[in-house]
Amino acid sequence: MGRSGEARVGVKELAVTLGIETSCDETSVALVEGGRRVLANVIHSQVDLHKEFGGVVPELAARDHLERLPHLLDLAFEQAQASPEDVGLIAVTRGPGLAGFYAAMLARADLEPPLLGLVVSGAHSDLVRMPEHGRFEVIGRTRDDAAGEAFDKAARMLGLGYPGGPALDRLARTGDARRQPLPRPSLPGLEFSFSGLKTALLYRLRDLGDGAGPQEKADLAAAFERSVVESLLEKLDEALSRAPVAEVVVAGGVAANTLLRRRAAEVVGDRARLTMPPLELCTDNAAMIAAAAYFTSLPRGEVGPARSAGPGGGPQQSITVDPSVGWD
Ligand code: KG4
Repeated sequence: MGRSGEARVGVKELAVTLGIETSCDETSVALVEGGRRVLANVIHSQVDLHKEFGGVVPELAARDHLERLPHLLDLAFEQAQASPEDVGLIAVTRGPGLAGFYAAMLARADLEPPLLGLVVSGAHSDLVRMPEHGRFEVIGRTRDDAAGEAFDKAARMLGLGYPGGPALDRLARTGDARRQPLPRPSLPGLEFSFSGLKTALLYRLRDLGDGAGPQEKADLAAAFERSVVESLLEKLDEALSRAPVAEVVVAGGVAANTLLRRRAAEVVGDRARLTMPPLELCTDNAAMIAAAAYFTSLPRGEVGPARSAGPGGGPQQSITVDPSVGWD
């Protein structure tokens, strides 16, 4: 896929894309028309299943995906008022990649590359230029943990449950970062690193010992969040200054973070248009998988805002979404 271009199919056959997402702890099925119009995007979260283990148990996740998929497929077709014959393209997730970008395409009908993206999830902290659909040039990445991973580990240290990122976000809202300042990681160039910050949190908690009550923990959550967010945005700011671009996208699960959403808008300002997908499209979902497959499988030059080709028609194509293929 991507630039390798082995999955080029005609526009008409791609009118409705069936997306299936089972890469982690969400089972999701979506039907998306023309790469932009979400007809259905059903998501089942396995949070309750994994909660008692403090993280995702792969064997349980796999079994649960299999058990739930048939019902979710029925639900998606019912919600979309569509039938399997309407589907021209089937897209399934193969592993972590940059498909999160395509959540932004669903959020804004006229969003087109070239764009600059900050993709922040449990697996990625990447600054990416996307000169055209399906082509990603990673210009900055993390040396160690991804931002989501760092949030999850910090949440564990603070005694918050799984999933850690959202819990830390909530706790940080009741804290004051200035009361427990933590270092802000800053590497030269466009690289990120969060392991030093994690260690700083660990040592601070050790030093505080029994003195780490609820307020101290809330303050530490706020400080940790601020350090991660400001470090991400410092590099986004630098990338934008180095090579200005009209469209900026912040995507991936961590894009659901309250402080990141607010600060990203301030940092980008009026230098570019900023798109951050709505919360339900930030974390794993099949609609973005369908959109990614749609846009990356069209022949060059045929990609554009919602097109009018109606549902139905040609043979079904099946594409495995792995946007990491095509990275520079
Ligand atoms: O993109 P995503 O749903 O999937 C994977 O990468 O698997 O991202 C999940 C990550 C997790 O690390 C989660 O803790 C983090 O995104 N996350 C958040 C928030 N919501 C999800 N991190 C900080 N604040 C949030 N509100």
